[in-house]
Amino acid sequence: MEQTSVVKPETLDELIEILHKIFDSDNINVEEVQNIMESYESKPHEWKKFAKFDPFRYTRNLVDEGNGKFNLIVLCWGEGHGSSIHDHTDSHCFMKMLQGQLKETLFDWPEKESKGDMVQKSQRILQENKVAYINDSIGLHRVENVSHTEGAVSLHLYSPPFNICQTFDQRTGHKNEVKMTFWSKYGERTPFETTVSQENN
Ligand code: SIN
Repeated sequence: MEQTSVVKPETLDELIEILHKIFDSDNINVEEVQNIMESYESKPHEWKKFAKFDPFRYTRNLVDEGNGKFNLIVLCWGEGHGSSIHDHTDSHCFMKMLQGQLKETLFDWPEKESKGDMVQKSQRILQENKVAYINDSIGLHRVENVSHTEGAVSLHLYSPPFNICQTFDQRTGHKNEVKMTFWSKYGERTPFETTVSQENN
């Protein structure tokens, strides 16, 4: 069995430094990444500058490009905001809760000829500091902030990075390709581009 690392990042910068080292290699141990991200204790003053909320939809805010190996992104979810059901373009997706809670609903991929409702596999609430993992072989998911009173903030790592994914209509399983954009990069509002996040469809 592969040895998993026990380094505990004390700050977000330390976490990023460790992630750079891990992703230098082409052999990624999912459990190791999950453990390291989980062992970082969220400190709002360290990620606040990336946490930009929009009144109408969740935002994607680029923190680090991981030497081309991964994207690290802070997502801000206002009350009631959610993603559509989507895939992860053959990448790893790690999702750490920095603040609040999110509901994750897992779905099977729709059958080729199926026209009915998509099959829901499971549902869970992700708690602060916990790290969820998904890839396309596990299935598809929808993520939602179901709170009526509190925003939520999550830290996502996608490797390899991608900017196009497929979204799915829950009633029919029909899919659509969408381009994913950043609301901000490195703490600065992204200019001249309409932010298209894959809000509920
Ligand atoms: C998610 O996994 O729900 C977030 C999707 C995104 O990166 O926009």
